[in-house]
Amino acid sequence: MTKIALFGATGTIGTRVLHEALRRGHEVTAVVRDPARFPDSAGGATAVVRGDVLDPASVAEAAAGHEVVVSAFGPGSGDPAALVTAARSLIGGVRSLGTDAPAPRVVVVGGAGSLRTPGGPMVWDEAGVPAPVLALMHAHGDALDFLRTVPVEEVRWTCLSPAAQIAPGERTGTYRLGLDGLVVDEEGRSRISTEDFAVALVDEIERDAHAGRRFTVAH
Ligand SMILES: NC(=O)c1ccc[n+]([C@@H]2O[C@H](COP(=O)([O-])OP(=O)(O)OC[C@H]3O[C@@H](n4cnc5c(N)ncnc54)[C@H](OP(=O)(O)O)[C@@H]3O)[C@@H](O)[C@H]2O)c1
Repeated sequence: MTKIALFGATGTIGTRVLHEALRRGHEVTAVVRDPARFPDSAGGATAVVRGDVLDPASVAEAAAGHEVVVSAFGPGSGDPAALVTAARSLIGGVRSLGTDAPAPRVVVVGGAGSLRTPGGPMVWDEAGVPAPVLALMHAHGDALDFLRTVPVEEVRWTCLSPAAQIAPGERTGTYRLGLDGLVVDEEGRSRISTEDFAVALVDEIERDAHAGRRFTVAH
């Protein structure tokens, strides 16, 4: 059993991570901006606390006493650059806990834009990506660039990028792994259900297999 603090527990991905972690017997503290709005459908968390992933002091408060901090934060229609602020805040908050106890690991949900396609270009360089999506992709890329400057001896961080397409669907419990390359199927499509993405994320929590790395999953 792992003690997990989860930012973004009310979101599309965070809700699945919450349910997947709970069904495997982990303790999950849902860290939400407004506990009064925490929907019953996303409930079942071991505890619900107020927190702001953009504030390092709030991250530290929420992270204390947990072994892993997960961020499924998304800026919604707000400024995509908040993804970089969140990455800095997560690392800064965990670092500020000091060295008396082992620092919690940090697992961040990333983006697919910075993955390299089998044909060569990055996903974000492919034709036809709408401007708002492009901005999110590059902000995720900037957040990953920051994480890559963090020595794992200080904070054991991991970034998990979804497939090019992620949507709620079936939990099959299976997926294929990649590192910095987009994982595609035999027809060249890169897809994962949100449920199986959550399986992969909780597998990473349990296995600690990609410290200091980004990895990706797809069907
Ligand atoms: N879904 C996709 O298609 C997709 C694809 C690739 C990558 N991603 C990335 O995956 C991440 C999660 O995506 P999603 O679709 O699950 O997002 P989402 O449904 O919009 O959920 C975003 C979550 O972030 C929380 N949040 C917002 N501001 C916060 C703050 N200051 N402090 C703490 N929590 C805050 C929201 O909580 P509230 O309830 O307080 O609003 C919500 O739980 C995003 O970074 C997104 O870019 C998503």
